[in-house]
Amino acid sequence: MRKNIVAGNWKMNKNVIEAQQLMFQLLEYKKNNAANCEVWIAPPSLYLMMARDLYENNEIGVFAQDMSEHESGAYTGEISAGMLESIEATGTLVGHSERRQYHGETDAACNKKVKRALDMGLTPIYCNGETLDQRKAGQHLEVVKNQTEEALFTLSAEELKKVVIAYEPVWAIGTGETASPEQAQEIHAHIRSLIAAKYGQEVADEISILYGGSVKPDNAKEIFSQPDIDGGLIGGAALKMDDFAKIIEGFNS
Ligand code: 13P
Repeated sequence: MRKNIVAGNWKMNKNVIEAQQLMFQLLEYKKNNAANCEVWIAPPSLYLMMARDLYENNEIGVFAQDMSEHESGAYTGEISAGMLESIEATGTLVGHSERRQYHGETDAACNKKVKRALDMGLTPIYCNGETLDQRKAGQHLEVVKNQTEEALFTLSAEELKKVVIAYEPVWAIGTGETASPEQAQEIHAHIRSLIAAKYGQEVADEISILYGGSVKPDNAKEIFSQPDIDGGLIGGAALKMDDFAKIIEGFNS
């Protein structure tokens, strides 16, 4: 179901004490403030169980940053969908650009991961987005189209409705350079129209599409106000409670 979401991707940051502290702060914040959006976090996998135990009433969604495309077996260093399901994680990121860039993750692999996650009742947040060179060459619409189709369009309509998409232009991640609200809206509307063309408008209207890339307290509200933007996937600004709170409040009128 389409909903407003603010999700924090902690990437490879924070030791256990710092992670626990921020998780507590988030819980306190959620208890004391009526957020107009779902609040999710994707801490390093080492801390997932701690988050799961702390958020026993599902106050905050608990996501892995990645998971294996394989079911189980000799894949050193990996975690599986079954393991995430067994700790009652909410879901997992799939295809983050840093996984694509540093670990050679392809859309074919993303397709397998998305399916495995769904089979285990997990919510996949499928990430896509073009590089700076692709944007400069005017290929952004095409790149995002290919990524979306290859990773998602083998799913049934019922499966697709359970996926969250995060458009994250690679040139805007961690650079301080944000896509303008109009640039982001253009791609979000494009993704939704691709889904509508294949699955119908009703399915397209049910899918949350998040924007990621240098979302900060001072630009969140304007980005979230775009008609096809349903929230944000936040990196750096999710590491400080004050900043993350202000971004969540981007959904307050
Ligand atoms: P920043 O918000 O630090 O640009 O990171 C965005 C991101 O990659 C979230 O997944």
